[in-house]
This record gives sequence, structure tokens and C-alpha cells, in this order.
Amino acid sequence: MPNRYEDALHRAIDKFRRTSALAAQAGVIPYKSEPGGPWIGSPYDGNSWWTGGFWPGLMWQCYAATREEAFLREARRAQRLLTDEFRAFRYLNHDVGFMYLLSCGADYRLTGDRQAREDTLHAASLLMGRFNPAGFIRAWNEPERTGYAIIDCMMNLSLLFWASRETHDPRFAKVARIHADTTLREFLRPDGSVSHIIEFDPDTGARVREWPGQGYALGSQWSRGQAWGLYGFTLAFRNTGDRRYLDAACAIADNFVRHIRPDGLTDCDFCQPPTEERIDNLAGAIAACGLIELADAAETPAWRDAALRLLDGLLAHCCDWTEARCGVLTMCTASYHDDGAGRHTNLTYGDYFLVEALARLCGTDPGLWI
Ligand code: GLY
Repeated sequence: MPNRYEDALHRAIDKFRRTSALAAQAGVIPYKSEPGGPWIGSPYDGNSWWTGGFWPGLMWQCYAATREEAFLREARRAQRLLTDEFRAFRYLNHDVGFMYLLSCGADYRLTGDRQAREDTLHAASLLMGRFNPAGFIRAWNEPERTGYAIIDCMMNLSLLFWASRETHDPRFAKVARIHADTTLREFLRPDGSVSHIIEFDPDTGARVREWPGQGYALGSQWSRGQAWGLYGFTLAFRNTGDRRYLDAACAIADNFVRHIRPDGLTDCDFCQPPTEERIDNLAGAIAACGLIELADAAETPAWRDAALRLLDGLLAHCCDWTEARCGVLTMCTASYHDDGAGRHTNLTYGDYFLVEALARLCGTDPGLWI
């Protein structure tokens, strides 16, 4: 008799078995879905938008659990669109980690495909090229943002650690460690929360200021940023064995878990006004994955219990198993103040992390981040 996580994983795979064909018909890399409508592609920058890897990543998760060729074919269809973006250089940024580790990197991991390996190494070289020797990896491309680094990048570092292992060239991992050390020093606050954006002087590396980014306000706690920090520092520990990263992950996890709502859902910002009902379940799904990994890394089962509280909240309140829309996880919010990328809706990256968390619990997760 399957438990509720196995049941949910099967239901999710079943739904994506049906709706992945609609993505191929539409010719898009799914970004989100609304009730009654088709898959919708990215809101900005076409197929260079940072979320493009989550759909093929989701297909690879489904493939790892079922070995059905249709999932492999759909992952590779989306991957071709992503590797075409290597030529649209002006848009690609530090999020090549998210984009290519979950797509080409997953392909190489699961099938041994040599071109997928080359494409993943190509992405790692692009990420290396963003390193500023003043001590950080540059986040975005706007000319006025040469000194910006963001907490999300902790997740992208896995691409560099992987590249060093794959090529036996320590450069990639050294850059990742310098960036992780800067993040540890400049982003982690005494209460265990993390900043979203820190601007550095691009010549000297000196801290200039913090920016509120996708959160509610300066100094607040954007929940998805907290989740990136939690999972990212856990992965940095996994990649290096450096206990300072594990301690940081535990501090961030402590703070995150204190803010889980009684219904198991996640506020968009832990400092948002109490009168503001703004949810981001995507943050909860990412944190659940990070907490499951952290429970193992820190040998602390309580982190896994917290992950189950988050997952139980998502399964009880915010999973759409009907035919009404193409995706599953609802009430995801891309950014506190910018509704253009989606507010209280299904986002494919939320579906990815929901399925990764379920796959971790059911033993089918292929481990795409390490
Ligand atoms: N990496 C950007 C975001 O989480 O929205």
C-alpha cells in the first residue's frame, strides 16, 4: 500500500505524462499554467529566462522514476531550446547553474550522453567567466549592476563543483569556494536570515549596500531567498565537507522552520505585514528539499520532520490534481512586488521542487545537484 508521498509522486507523474505532450505541441518551455489554459512560456528574455532548466529537470525526475522514453524525449526537446541560447549571450547570467545542471547535466548523469556533458561544461565555463577576482560571481548583466551578487547563486555553485570533479581541474571549485565564503561573510545575518542582494564595489570587492530584491523591503526576509540559502549552503557542505557551510545551513534552517505557518504553507516574506496574505509555496518546496538533504548531512532527523510539515501543507492545500490546469503546485509567487512573473499561481519551478522532494522521500531522486 503506497504511503501518501508515493501516492502524490505517482499522481504528479501521471499528470505530467498527460500534460508534457501539450508543451511539445505549444513549442514552449513551460514556465507556468493557469486554470483552463495551456502551458505558458517564460515572461521575460525568451528561452534564456533563468527558469528554463526546471521543466527538463522535471522530465528527468519523471524519467528516473519510470524510465519512460516519452519523458526523455520531452527533456531533450526543451534542452535543444536551451542550448540554442548559448548564442544569445546577452541574456544568460549566473543562473546557467539552474538552467543547465537540471537539463544537460541531468541527461549526462542519467544516460551518459557525451554531448550533454560538453554542454554542461560549456555552461560551467560561462559561470566561471562571471567571476570577479574581487571576490564574487556577478549575478546579472545590466551595466549598472556590475557589482551585484545574490543569495540564489549558492544553488548555481553546484555546477562549478561538478565541473571540477568532472575535469580534475580545481579552478571551478576554487571560484565556487571564494563566492561561498563571500556569501557567508556578507549575506548571513545574526538571526539566521539572509539578504537577497548585496552590491559590491566591482574594483575592490568592498561592500557597498544591500538591496531588497524580490522581498518585501530592505532588511526583510524574502522566503525564497531563505530557501536558496538553506539548500545552497547544504550543497556547499556536501561539495566541500567545510563545516562552516553546514553551520550556516543549520542557522538558516532554524530561522526558516520558525516561520512555517500553522497550515504548512510559506509566506512570501517572513517580514510581510500580518494583514497581507501573500504566499509562496515554491519557497516551501525548495526548503523541503534542502531540509531533507540537511537532515542527512547534519544527522539531525528534526530537519526531515520540518520538511514533512511543509510537504504535508502543500499536499493538503495546494496541489491541483484535476485537469483544470497543466501544472500541479499552486499559490506560488515569483516576486513580492512584481506580479508580472506570476502571483499565487502555478509555476513550473514549484512543480520541479515538489517532485524532487517527493522523489527524495520515495527513493527515486537521481541527485541532480551533486
Ligand atoms: N533566482 C530568482 C528567483 O528565485 O526568483
